[in-house]
Amino acid sequence: MAEHREYFYRRLHSLLGVVPIGIFMVQHLVINHFAVYGEESFNKAANFMHNLPFVLALEIFVIYLPILFHAILGVYIVFIAKNNVRRYGFVRNWLFYVQRVTGIITLVFIAWHVFETRVQVALGASLDYSLMEGILTNPFMFWFYIIGVLSAVFHFSNGLWGFLVSWGIAQSPRSQKIVTYATILVFLVVSYIGIRTLITFAYGV
Ligand code: HEM
Repeated sequence: MAEHREYFYRRLHSLLGVVPIGIFMVQHLVINHFAVYGEESFNKAANFMHNLPFVLALEIFVIYLPILFHAILGVYIVFIAKNNVRRYGFVRNWLFYVQRVTGIITLVFIAWHVFETRVQVALGASLDYSLMEGILTNPFMFWFYIIGVLSAVFHFSNGLWGFLVSWGIAQSPRSQKIVTYATILVFLVVSYIGIRTLITFAYGV
């Protein structure tokens, strides 16, 4: 019975990593990328998202609760759960550990990012271009964000591979190879979108 429950929680953890968390992360980075087209474009896009109907309920059920569940079980998996790995080759086993390390880096990054953006906005700061510009013109924070964004995007892209394999969507060696290339492409494209935005906020280009 306990095994069944653990299996169910692990499946839920895996699913939430892609839907809704992964989808949310990609749309969040795409919306932020409007900064590249100028201050006004970013402010319009950010305000559109912020003024969606039922925004607080959406945030709680589509973002905060799924991330909280995924993060808590993720920390448990990293530090406590027994893992029977080593069924794959050298690179896959190595990526398995990087998945865990990036999970922890992403946790620290998200906690700080939510504190200095969403919590500050709730306390009265205005949600606009200058909020992120103020944060990212500090070189330490710029590099903290670069590492945090790369870590989150890697964790998502590599996790997507694990998701497609563990849910039986990519079973044959050939389909796993295709999924490997596809997830590398996801990593490169989404990283570019995220880093391009950070450079705009920090250097105005
Ligand atoms: C907040 C801190 C986070 C922690 C501590 C964490 C931890 C983990 C761990 C340990 C795994 C591996 C599970 C396993 O192999 O059984 C994992 C898988 C995954 N995570 Fe995260 N994660 C975090 C955030 C995120 C975020 C923000 C995303 C999406 C952008 C995400 C997406 C995924 C995906 C797609 C998987 C693969 C699921 C699978 O293997 O089927 N995670 N996470």
